[in-house]
Amino acid sequence: MVKTPKESLTIFTDIVLPGESNQLGNLFGGELLARMDRACSIAARRHSHAIVVTASVNHVAFNNAVPIGSVMTIEAKVSRAFKSSMEIYVDVWIEDRESQERSKVNEGIYTFVAVDKFGKPIAVPQLEPETVLEKERYEGALRRKQLSLILSGKMKPADADELRKLFIG
Ligand SMILES: CC(C)(COP(=O)(O)OP(=O)(O)OC[C@H]1O[C@@H](n2cnc3c(N)ncnc32)[C@H](O)[C@@H]1OP(=O)(O)O)[C@@H](O)C(=O)NCCC(=O)NCCS
Repeated sequence: MVKTPKESLTIFTDIVLPGESNQLGNLFGGELLARMDRACSIAARRHSHAIVVTASVNHVAFNNAVPIGSVMTIEAKVSRAFKSSMEIYVDVWIEDRESQERSKVNEGIYTFVAVDKFGKPIAVPQLEPETVLEKERYEGALRRKQLSLILSGKMKPADADELRKLFIG
């Protein structure tokens, strides 16, 4: 079976409350990570129709603070499916109260694995990207997977063929 990224699209819109803030009055990083993780897990579940677990958080950029009172939207979509693992890209936006224009504040890349009821990895449907951005993210996903496996000690750098192409063409 082949699925498209939009079939896994998961959108959360919520307001940032004072109890979720740091001492500067902005959203606490751990709270944002938890919300991103939840959105990604639903996207992974929608893609795989299976139980999913977070295998790694490959990248999170806290590029901009999110002030208390912000209306924040988190959008997660599967960007590539491998055998049992899926890369999920999550984009975070806030909106201006008056103009309602959105600006992107953060993004993250998570890896989820589909498992059976005993926690054993199982196969997931493949993914066919459609838009230019989806194709770009799909293309980069294998090297990000290899980098994540190297950092977690599960792959030898010498075996990371796709990642090596970045440096030696
Ligand atoms: C994630 C987990 C299922 C992987 O199990 P495993 O025995 O290592 O299985 P495998 O080595 O076959 O890996 C399964 C897939 O995950 C991928 N994977 C494992 N660790 C990874 C990492 N750090 N980064 C990226 N991908 C990873 C593997 O490459 C493999 O992908 P593929 O099947 O698509 O090729 C297992 O480690 C686990 O259950 N971890 C705990 C998950 C959890 O509780 N998360 C919440 C944290 S509180």
